[in-house]
Amino acid sequence: SERTFIAVKPDGVQRGLVGKVISRFEERGYKLVGLKAIVPSKQLAEQHYADLSARPFFKGLVEYMTNGKAPVVCMVWEGKDVVRQGRAMIGATNPLESAPGTIRGQYCVSVGRNIIHGSDSFESAEKEINLWFGKAGELIDWEPATWGWIMADN
Ligand code: GTP
Ligand code: MG
Repeated sequence: SERTFIAVKPDGVQRGLVGKVISRFEERGYKLVGLKAIVPSKQLAEQHYADLSARPFFKGLVEYMTNGKAPVVCMVWEGKDVVRQGRAMIGATNPLESAPGTIRGQYCVSVGRNIIHGSDSFESAEKEINLWFGKAGELIDWEPATWGWIMADN
């Protein structure tokens, strides 16, 4: 079933918001299939944000993701429509435009410190999951006991 890559950025980790983010996805009914904290290499961050490499904030963005002042908490979540729903739960890129009640709309005010990343399409999700969880065995297939109560077809 569908999977997406979600990451709590170093500002979210510093601010103690990892648990809140996990709870929102868990409580919605999504399944956690991968989780780790890492300080990404410069190369990994540059690859992850490759489509932004021409933007003026790119260098600062990579510095902030990789400087080790806090890790990035990487997750893979699985469930119905999770890529699109994940983006909706996160809210607009600029927190000043994120709806109240979204993660960014509730917890932040700066576009450069917007605490969380979420894949923006099915294709990005696949690419990002392979990039951040490249090693075999890091993603776990499992069946939550609640699955049948959450995943009805109609
Ligand atoms: P991600 O989920 O992190 O990919 O955010 P997004 O998809 O909502 O936005 P986008 O991919 O366009 O930008 C990636 C990240 O770059 C954003 O989340 C911000 O952290 C950062 N960013 C984007 N625009 C700006 C900007 O104008 N200034 C600064 N400082 N950072 C920006
Ligand atoms: Mg993006």
